[in-house]
Amino acid sequence: MEMRFEGVWLPFAEAVIVRCMERRSIASRRQQRACLRLSKGRLSPHRALAVHYNAMTTSAEGSHHPDLSVTFAGIELKNPIIAASGTFGYGVEFEDVVHLDKLGGFVVKGLSREPMIGNPPPRLWETAAGMLNAIGLQNIGAAAFLEEKLPKLRQMKNIVVLANIFGYTREDYERTIEILNEGEGIAAYELNVSCPNTSEGGLQFGSDPRSLDEVVTTAKRVSRRPLIVKLSPNVTSIAQMAHIAQEAGADAISLINTFVAMAIDADTRKPRIANVTAGLSGPAIKPIALRMVYDAAHAVNIPVIGMGGISTASDVAEFILAGASAVQIGTASYWDPCATEKIVDELHGWCENRGVGRLADLVGGMILE
Ligand SMILES: Cc1cc2nc3c(=O)[nH]c(=O)nc-3n(C[C@H](O)[C@H](O)[C@H](O)COP(=O)(O)O)c2cc1C
Repeated sequence: MEMRFEGVWLPFAEAVIVRCMERRSIASRRQQRACLRLSKGRLSPHRALAVHYNAMTTSAEGSHHPDLSVTFAGIELKNPIIAASGTFGYGVEFEDVVHLDKLGGFVVKGLSREPMIGNPPPRLWETAAGMLNAIGLQNIGAAAFLEEKLPKLRQMKNIVVLANIFGYTREDYERTIEILNEGEGIAAYELNVSCPNTSEGGLQFGSDPRSLDEVVTTAKRVSRRPLIVKLSPNVTSIAQMAHIAQEAGADAISLINTFVAMAIDADTRKPRIANVTAGLSGPAIKPIALRMVYDAAHAVNIPVIGMGGISTASDVAEFILAGASAVQIGTASYWDPCATEKIVDELHGWCENRGVGRLADLVGGMILE
């Protein structure tokens, strides 16, 4: 067993032991004793790891399966993998592709008070390690979602549905939430604040502290469900915006939405996207997203849901170590529609191979020394 943790995994595994034991959340007395002896140099890391690993794999339930469950804003998920808004339709479209009940949850396409047809094509463009999109928040509208999609979702067992909401005025957000409040089977609202505030000169709600405060306060007042505020990365200080969202009543924050970006066809000299500017997502943004999740997690005491370029279980672990309680997968579903489900399986293996018994114990567990 010592061999198994030699080399690259050993430092990580040691870190896991120390962290778990420090928190005492899952530590048995043997683990705690081993931790003490390890810290005094009386036990080798290899031996401490063996104690820890044995304790984890012969836990009270006798289960060898890692516990991937997470909780945020009063919502319990069987695992931290959530399909991101705009990349998973209304969930029903993925029913034949993904076992929806294997996911932690999914966020439906952004909903508005009225249906929207979106932007003209071309609306998608592949970039180096990323994707540009300017779909224009095309959707069927909140009322049609309740009538046409939610009843189908309600027939499915063991799934968690989150509704993403957007608007161009505070009243839009308010009205959309009021409509959705009438439906059953939505676990929480995710407020997309990366939209121009048309009554305040068109600056994004999520890029202006005052607009952000007002829209979150309004949404919280009318919401009958937990409110997750999805932050825009197009800001100077993500920590400041995260804090504003928290103070205005957010039960959790999610981040990041896409970066405003563009591409030009140098031969035709025309923009690649009809809207000219578009949102950049995918692996290209992952390191920046990770830094923003880390900064935001240190600025608030509400849970953080991380996203931006995640495509592997080890990406998930990075976001969790940076402070995310759960994660969302977006663009990866474009090149592999089964990506969300595959990452759940991969995450089981990732935890098993490293002796991580309870994934939630890794939240914010990055080691700095
Ligand atoms: C085609 C497309 C449509 C999107 N639509 C929405 C949306 O309706 N509401 C929203 O909040 N975010 C939307 N997003 C942003 C994603 O949910 C996610 O925040 C972003 O893409 C970063 O994650 P990723 O790199 O894993 O895709 C969309 C992204 C893409 C690629």
